[in-house]
Amino acid sequence: MCGIVGYVGKRPCRDLLIAGLEKLEYRGYDSAGIALLDDGHIETVRAVGNLANLRAAVGLDADGEGSVAVAAPPAQIGLAHTRWATHGQVTEENAHPHNDCTDTVHIVLNGIVENHSELRAELGAEGHHFSSETDAEIVAHLIERHYDGDFPAAVRAAFAEMRGHYAFVAMHAAHPDMLVAARQECPLVVGLGEGETFVASAIPAFLAHTRRVQYVANGEVITITPDGATFTDAAGAVVEREPEEVDWSEDEAEKGGYETFMLKEIHEQADAVAETITDRLPELDRVDLSELGLDPELPRRLRRIVIVACGTSYHAGLVGRYAIEQWARVPVEMDIASEFRYRNPVIGPEDLVIAITQSGETADTLAAMRLARERGATVMALTNVMGSQATREAHAVLFTRAGLEIGVAATKTFTSQVAAMYLLGLWLAHERGAFSPASVRHVIAELKALPHQIQVTIPAVNDRVREIAERVHRGRFFLYLGRNIGLPVCLEGALKMKEISYIPSDAYAAGEMKHGPIALLDSSTPVVCVATDSPVLDKILSNVAEVRARGADVIAVATEGNERVAEVADETIFVARTDWVLQPIVAILPLQLLAYHVARLLGLNVDQPRNLAKTVTVE
Ligand code: AGP
Repeated sequence: MCGIVGYVGKRPCRDLLIAGLEKLEYRGYDSAGIALLDDGHIETVRAVGNLANLRAAVGLDADGEGSVAVAAPPAQIGLAHTRWATHGQVTEENAHPHNDCTDTVHIVLNGIVENHSELRAELGAEGHHFSSETDAEIVAHLIERHYDGDFPAAVRAAFAEMRGHYAFVAMHAAHPDMLVAARQECPLVVGLGEGETFVASAIPAFLAHTRRVQYVANGEVITITPDGATFTDAAGAVVEREPEEVDWSEDEAEKGGYETFMLKEIHEQADAVAETITDRLPELDRVDLSELGLDPELPRRLRRIVIVACGTSYHAGLVGRYAIEQWARVPVEMDIASEFRYRNPVIGPEDLVIAITQSGETADTLAAMRLARERGATVMALTNVMGSQATREAHAVLFTRAGLEIGVAATKTFTSQVAAMYLLGLWLAHERGAFSPASVRHVIAELKALPHQIQVTIPAVNDRVREIAERVHRGRFFLYLGRNIGLPVCLEGALKMKEISYIPSDAYAAGEMKHGPIALLDSSTPVVCVATDSPVLDKILSNVAEVRARGADVIAVATEGNERVAEVADETIFVARTDWVLQPIVAILPLQLLAYHVARLLGLNVDQPRNLAKTVTVE
């Protein structure tokens, strides 16, 4: 999740744009850049690392003061960008802004262009030269391809050829009074000033200058001038857009208008999953994981998969195990990294070890990777951070694309890890011929629908979950019950509750209840049951009846439309319907929210819970 800022107006804008990037630092980044247009010439400066490096590169010192030697350039139109790398290493060449062959069109983009490889091939065949590995650069060349003097029309034509999950802003050397931008899923907002206009991926970028905003809707192309913005649909028809006044405090702004980072990140899950899967599903009948660079024979010859991880990442691995075994019929072993590294595991060249770690820096997981490598296994890392240690320990890396996660309690990195494990399971199933083409197509269609289902489920259940939290937040102990692929969801729900509300919580395989834990139950025990549709639903329903018979207060998570669960539970929260193996990605949402609201009702700091660090680099 990159940060975008654009400005056109009457003030020299270099410092404005860099200050805007500073307000987007919370989005996380590994490099940044700026492009300024003055007197028909565009000057671009890019830098790897944090903004201090960009400041230094443009002649600003650490405090943003210009060194006497370098006056602020007069440019009154420009673009700036913070990059969270997804395509192409963390290098200066891959930092934005990117330009076309003639250095005339410059663009900044946030998101993923799904069909970038085929467009790059086409443009290359037409003689375009590329200077970066990024998917984003093709936008500048597409605009160049269509430009005949009408800049907005060229951007609309480029936009029509692109597919994916993105928003971009373009600048043209021949048009010093306008920027043109477009949105497909990723956020974009306009800031209206006096004789100046901003465009950005988030309001904090320009909140210091104006509170009058216009939200850009999906599929819209906007032309931004000092006097404001013209909104058009993809065909060029003008669309009216009422300006709105935002009354956020600086702190709220940094959280995107949400009260905490955790709540903001819960609401970013649809984007995180979409960006994680988008361009790995280029067609409807196959998964493209060529980025792994693994031996093409490996999927067919591998004997076993071993997943190692800690905490929430371990739970994502557990969901992945069910999917891989269900679809690809490869045996999958799970291990907590801190146990794996000291149990002298039987591991060898026929094994694929998948290490899941959002930060890429967790000491136990890194040590487990090294041990597996020493013993000849192929080691793959599933991580959210490009350039992290895990990427250096692994033979192959699959990146989730959740963007920076600030809240200590992992949320969007969990759902994007689960989405990545689904991609891996489906890819292995396809490569091993273990899954019929029709089944592969079915699951791909369901996967592509997931971001929307996450988007609709969160607001649909939030108020209901808060009401339930008001009733149960004084609970002394929470029990989570699930079966099969619902069990890892319970383990993750219980971990969230423990982490941020400090209430003892346990998750159990429902079939195990009668072998002991049922003794814990009484009328004061909230029991959260994950009872989404699956081959074991009847079993879980009888377990629900068992615990209700002991007076427990049962809160069930069910698949929309399945009233049978509501008949046996005290409270039922319905989530969007999808393939039963994919249900965990929506079933976890009400559990994240339950822990969140319980902790908030107890007045606790959910972003920085006691005794916890976001990344555990100690053993
Ligand atoms: C989850 O909310 C916690 N922050 C913690 O359990 C975390 O998942 C664990 O420390 C693993 O971190 P990693 O994914 O960065 O390796």
